[in-house]
Amino acid sequence: MSTSESPALTEAELKLLQTLVYQECGMHFDDRRTPFLQDRLQRRLKECQLDSFYSYYRLLISQQGKQELSRLLENLTVNETSFFRNKAQLDLFQNDVLGDLFRRKQERRDYSVRIWSAGCSTGQEPYTLTMQVADALSYHYLRNPIPYESPLPKPLVPPPWRVEILASDINYSVLRTAQEGSYSERQMSPVDYGYRLRYFDKVGDRYAIKKNVKELVHFDFHNLKTEYLPQRNDIIFCRNVMMYFDEAEQKRLVEKFYRCLNPQGYLFVGHAESLLGLTDKFQMVHRDSGTAYQRIEVKM
Ligand SMILES: C[S@@+](CC[C@H](N)C(=O)[O-])C[C@H]1O[C@@H](n2cnc3c(N)ncnc32)[C@H](O)[C@@H]1O
Repeated sequence: MSTSESPALTEAELKLLQTLVYQECGMHFDDRRTPFLQDRLQRRLKECQLDSFYSYYRLLISQQGKQELSRLLENLTVNETSFFRNKAQLDLFQNDVLGDLFRRKQERRDYSVRIWSAGCSTGQEPYTLTMQVADALSYHYLRNPIPYESPLPKPLVPPPWRVEILASDINYSVLRTAQEGSYSERQMSPVDYGYRLRYFDKVGDRYAIKKNVKELVHFDFHNLKTEYLPQRNDIIFCRNVMMYFDEAEQKRLVEKFYRCLNPQGYLFVGHAESLLGLTDKFQMVHRDSGTAYQRIEVKM
C-alpha cells in the first residue's frame, strides 16, 4: 500500500494505531473500514511531515501530540446527518414520547425538560428536536394551561416550562458549524415550508436558525468513551454513532446512558442500530416503524 511519497504502514503499526483510536474514542475499524483508516493515517502523516507511522504513533501518545490526536479523530469520524432524519422515529418522539414526558412532569410540577443529542454532528439533529419540542409543548400547553404570567413577546417555551437541549460531539469542527446554525438550500430539503417560516431566517441564499431556537441549544465537546457524561436527561438521542463501536464498547455506552437518564427516560438509537443483546435494562417502544427504548426501573 505504500506509494513513492508515503512510507509503508506495517501490520504492527496499523495494530498500534487501531488500538490507540479504539482506546481514545471507541471507534472500531474492522476489515471493511481498515482502508478508510489507512487513507486518513496517510493524510495525517503527510500533513505532519513525518517519515514513519511509528513516529506518528509516538507523536500521538506524547504530551505535545494532544492536538494532533484530536485532529486525527476528527478525520476519522463520519459526520453524515440531516434534518428530520428517520421521520417515523421522530413522529414517535413528538407525538407519544414527549406527550408522556410532559404529562408525567406536570403531575409532579416539575417543568424542566432536558434532552441530549449525543454525537450531534453539524447540528441538524438537535435543531430538529428543538423545533419538535417547541411544537409539542405548545400543543400540550394549550390543553393543559398553567396559570402563570407570560412575558411579551410570547417566548418559544411557555413558562414555567424550561427546555434545555444539550448537543455534543467529539469533533470540534462540526460543533463550530452546528453552533453557527446556517444551512444551504440542499441541506434544508427535508424541512417543510411551515418549519422554515417559523424557525429559520433567510439570509442570502442560506437559512439561519432563529435566535429563540438557538438559545435553547447548548453545544459542548463530549467524548462518549469517557465516564464523565451529562447526567439527569429525560431523553437521549444517540443515533448513528454506536454503529462505529464494537459490541463491548456499545454495551459500556448503553450502560452509561442508563445512568445518564432520569427514571423512565427514553433512549433513541439509529435506524441500523438496536439494543438487542446489549442490555435488558430498557424496554422497546414501537409505533408505525419508529422505535425508542425506555429505561426500566428496578423495584427495590
Ligand atoms: C454519523 S454522525 C450522526 C449524527 C446524528 N446523530 C444523526 O444521526 O444524524 C456521527 C457523529 O458521532 C460523532 N462521534 C463519533 N465518535 C464519538 C465519540 N466517541 N464521542 C462523541 N461523538 C462521537 C462523530 O463525530 C459524528 O459527528
